[in-house]
Amino acid sequence: MNYLNCVESIIMYNSKIAGLGMYVPENKVSNHNLTHLMDTSDEWIKERTGIKERRHIKKGDGNSTAVMGVKAAKQAIERAKISSDDIELILFATLSPDYYFPGSGVLVQEMLSIKDCPAMDIRNQCSGFVYALATADQFIKSGMYKNVLVIGSENHSGGLDFSTRGRDVSVIFGDGAGAAVVSREVDNDKGILSSHLHSEGKHAEELSLIGPSTNRWVPEIIEANDPEDISYYPYMNGQFVFKNAVVRFEQVILEGLKKNNLSTEDIDLLIPHQANLRISQFVQRKFGLKDRQVYNNIEKYGNTTAASIPIALTEAWESGLINTGDKIVLAAFGSGFTWGSIILNWQ
Ligand code: ACO
Repeated sequence: MNYLNCVESIIMYNSKIAGLGMYVPENKVSNHNLTHLMDTSDEWIKERTGIKERRHIKKGDGNSTAVMGVKAAKQAIERAKISSDDIELILFATLSPDYYFPGSGVLVQEMLSIKDCPAMDIRNQCSGFVYALATADQFIKSGMYKNVLVIGSENHSGGLDFSTRGRDVSVIFGDGAGAAVVSREVDNDKGILSSHLHSEGKHAEELSLIGPSTNRWVPEIIEANDPEDISYYPYMNGQFVFKNAVVRFEQVILEGLKKNNLSTEDIDLLIPHQANLRISQFVQRKFGLKDRQVYNNIEKYGNTTAASIPIALTEAWESGLINTGDKIVLAAFGSGFTWGSIILNWQ
């Protein structure tokens, strides 16, 4: 190999989103529906979170985290105009995998019949899709793969406390999946321009589900459980999470803009993780962004964690809000704490 060939072989490619897809269960659960299960109200939920309804898997409807992911993935693959055989890597972001192990990525590999395709799960909760997209970007930039399937999917409803005790958490979350086919782009100015990832494990327990885990194993929970111990339901220190989220969203968006010599005016569309409408509005106000520059759909789906960004991105794209040359900013913050942003020049 001569010097030029050698240089060519280490020239990094860019990656672009070649196809998007989403799936949400048909079963709509309104705030009013939740009032039959717990002491809450439509007004409280709307005022604090912006959520009007969310989707929940219904027993027997055939959905699971992996199944919903496959439905979203099929749409993304079709829109990318490739076949599932062209997928070389599956990255599956979720906090609610079908099994404790193995991860849901291998279930997708089997359901899509992609022979021997590597599959890995990314365990980064609300930041999961951003982490997975950043990982896909690196595999493509290095030249290792041409097409990576990235999925974010969550089945929250199966594991929430729908009594009044769990109302501060359970009204927020919904089920659904989103997917993107990430493909090689030879123009280095197009597609994913940069990604920025962070974590701060000292706050791990402020938004967490502690058991079952290897520290809190199943027999202990079943046989000797203190009825007051509900470590098998998600716990969230809501106000603490809120305060950290608004700071980290701002920092990580600015980090991405700075890296690409962009200013907030250059943002054509910001798609924040749909944690809480109040968080998105806070970020919007902080940056002085117009309504058309920020995409929100939390009122329809609640917080779908790793699925929220790909669902929002797919909807925004379907609505014609994303055009060639647009600067798109994806930003997430969540349990870990973890946070990240991705800056795209839409191809
Ligand atoms: N319905 C009615 N009342 C409720 C509910 C509910 N669903 N949940 C809590 N309350 C009550 C509380 O019991 C409390 O009552 P009290 O004053 O008698 O004790 C009162 O409402 C206020 O409770 P707070 O927890 O202080 O309410 P807060 O204003 O903080 O709102 C919320 C709670 C919405 C969770 C808020 O803290 C928040 O948005 N935090 C950000 C966290 C977030 O967005 N998480 C999403 C997941 S993480 C992520 O994606 C980043």
